[in-house]
Amino acid sequence: MPQCYNGICKIFLMKKGVIILGIHDGHNAGAALTKNGKVLAAINEERLNNIKNYSGVPLLSIRKVFEISNVSLHEIDLIAIASFLRVEDPVKQEKNIIHFLAEYLAPYLHEKWFIKISLKFLHLFRKKKELYKLFEGLGIREKPIRFIEHHLTHAACAYYQRPWDDKTLILTMDGMGDGISATVNIGQGFKIKRIAETSFFDSLGNNLYSEITAYLGMKRWEHEYKIMGLAPYGKADLAMDDLRSIIRINPKKPLEFENISGHYLKKMQKVYGEKLAGKRFDNIAAATQKIFENLVLEWVKNAIKETGIRKVSCAGGSFLNVKVNKLIRELEEVDDLFVYPAAEDGGAAVGAAMEGYYRYCEKKRIKPQREKLRDIYYGNAYSIEEIEEFLRRKNLLGKARKVTASEIAYLLSKGKIIARFAGRDEWGPRALGNRSIMADPRNMTVIRKINFAIKQRDFWMPFAPSVLREDMRKYFKRARFSPYMIEAFDTKEAASEIIAGLHPFDLTARPQIVNDWNPGWQKIIKEFKKITGVGGILNTSFNLHGYPLCGTPEAAYWTFKNSQLDGLILEDYLIER
Ligand SMILES: [Fe+2]
Repeated sequence: MPQCYNGICKIFLMKKGVIILGIHDGHNAGAALTKNGKVLAAINEERLNNIKNYSGVPLLSIRKVFEISNVSLHEIDLIAIASFLRVEDPVKQEKNIIHFLAEYLAPYLHEKWFIKISLKFLHLFRKKKELYKLFEGLGIREKPIRFIEHHLTHAACAYYQRPWDDKTLILTMDGMGDGISATVNIGQGFKIKRIAETSFFDSLGNNLYSEITAYLGMKRWEHEYKIMGLAPYGKADLAMDDLRSIIRINPKKPLEFENISGHYLKKMQKVYGEKLAGKRFDNIAAATQKIFENLVLEWVKNAIKETGIRKVSCAGGSFLNVKVNKLIRELEEVDDLFVYPAAEDGGAAVGAAMEGYYRYCEKKRIKPQREKLRDIYYGNAYSIEEIEEFLRRKNLLGKARKVTASEIAYLLSKGKIIARFAGRDEWGPRALGNRSIMADPRNMTVIRKINFAIKQRDFWMPFAPSVLREDMRKYFKRARFSPYMIEAFDTKEAASEIIAGLHPFDLTARPQIVNDWNPGWQKIIKEFKKITGVGGILNTSFNLHGYPLCGTPEAAYWTFKNSQLDGLILEDYLIER
């Protein structure tokens, strides 16, 4: 493909479409392929190598997105790579210059000008060799490459596929990426303009939420959802005072957070050890969630006041917190809220590809296009022939039988717990029917079985329901179409029918509202409703604790064998125990 020096090249590009390869090689690495701002395929490496939150060059994902979308390697116009600095997994505790700077110098060196200079400097030492070697092997080394700043990838996810066309307030927040932990932006047309940013040192996500997660004996950057799930059981007031002096909204800069503890990252453990020794873990979780909610809401209100924009789009790992998303949506200052479903770094490959696309169009003077977000089944699928071949190889053809949606619904209504591996992988952390474990939501005993015999989950963690769109108002207060399990809702009395899919203590839910985007999944729930009168089923991700969602028939069958699932669906086939 020649450089675009003239109109001929531009016409060629417009006809072919602009194709961007997005890559994220940090925490929860992955790849995405987009054409004219629409995602053709996207997948995280963990689904292919079965290592949860895999960090590194996503070799398998890159190959897979081309295979899924039937695009040739030479057709891509740009390689967009997320983050100037590779986002390292804090659990690995790699000893490198960034960790040294972060651990010891952060309290002294977190001025924005210093971050900007050091970012440019450290980018020179970013791990690129492995990536470039891969590009060479694939024959795409000569393609233009653009690195997209970390929080801009989150903002791009939140903005370009939003469900409205208006000017938008874009908020990003996470532990940290490229030296920044939160940003406030204005999105208009095909541009994102940043108006405020919070430094890594002042991170609310890392210093409060992730370090408390670690303090309570869980994994940073992975188990924060367990604190959120535990929070309703505790009494926030009994630990709030101890946590108030960690982070606040900067009194001089109301769109930024400020770390007032004087410490950073793992050094916070000493602070928490002194403040929280002897406190109950559920009360600590409750106070953490409450302080997090209070600060985020104050920040959102300040941003709306400053910009006058009431339509809000969010992304970044902190927005996996469905409880805070609920509160933002319910603010009277907010007209509408969109949270990108792959809010965490796992979504960064799409964000990089999106931002890469609009900047590429700008440079080449091509009129850009935009797609509002629909379903997010962007991943890998197996044909029926591939499934049959797998069953033959495993000597399972005699044991497996073809099954209909009504038979599946009948088995569920009889208390069976069945995993479904069908269609394309979901993008993002939530199982939306294709890599899901299903159960009868009326039946509280299934919770015990799934927790202890199937997934080895923590006993306090809630499940979620998948509810037909026509029934959402029956079960949820202030219901609205929410297809990605990224927002929580209060429930009505009728939701006692789906009790096993609610938080058992506060009775909230983070539902998947199901329409015809996934007809096979919708059909099972409709058949279940015909038998039981209940318009929803319990849906939890198809994996064992510590593993990613099952990405291959091998992983699916291994999980079935190593748990007490009653049945496994592989496309049209059912294997029963
Ligand atoms: Fe991030």
